Amino acid sequence: MKVKSIELKVSAYNKTQYPNDGLKQIAVIGRSNVGKSSFINAIVNRNNFARVSQKPGKTQGINFYIVNNTFYLVDLPGYGYAEVSKELKKQWSINIETYLNTSAYLVGAIMLVDIRHKPTDDDVLMVNYLKNRNINFQVVATKSDKLKRYEMQMSLKVISDTLSVDKEKIIPFSSLKKAGVDDVYTYLDSIVEA
Ligand code: GTP
Ligand code: MG
Repeated sequence: MKVKSIELKVSAYNKTQYPNDGLKQIAVIGRSNVGKSSFINAIVNRNNFARVSQKPGKTQGINFYIVNNTFYLVDLPGYGYAEVSKELKKQWSINIETYLNTSAYLVGAIMLVDIRHKPTDDDVLMVNYLKNRNINFQVVATKSDKLKRYEMQMSLKVISDTLSVDKEKIIPFSSLKKAGVDDVYTYLDSIVEA
């Protein structure tokens, strides 16, 4: 895969706004501040395409980015951010669930977890949801530049055990160092070309 073009098609706040053009959609999922927007910027090779926030919880709508005019990357709002009101949290989880439950074109997902931390209960719920729905997903461990090589292996083991996914299948990723980008392209190709 080579990203030749990317464009924000729509920021959706309700399901009537989701694209309905038949193109495949691949969701980018993860808790708030895990590095979703930075991940998208890294794989599309643009520094400030998706907005990177200093303050967690910035991405609130569901952003549909159309890539090479052939598929969508869907940037979902991050879950699990502690500092927002209960009401807002509820609204976010409703937005995420509504998308996951109703999108007819969702065929793949990239599940982001921070390589330094044990995945949260919400992460486990999310992965179990994807497994139950039979949605093909790829786990990507972000911010790998923050760890030394041997620490990375230990962390990947914790993530693998907690999420019950094969350790070898987790992609360590760094937006900063652009590490793991090619492995992500391989995953995207496998979905888009299927
Ligand atoms: P929300 O939209 O608020 O849910 O956050 P997000 O998941 O989109 O995270 P975002 O990309 O905005 O990044 C959050 C913070 O983590 C920012 O300060 C980024 O600079 C930092 N960050 C993201 N990816 C990396 C990475 O690979 N390495 C390092 N060192 N920092 C990163
Ligand atoms: Mg974001």
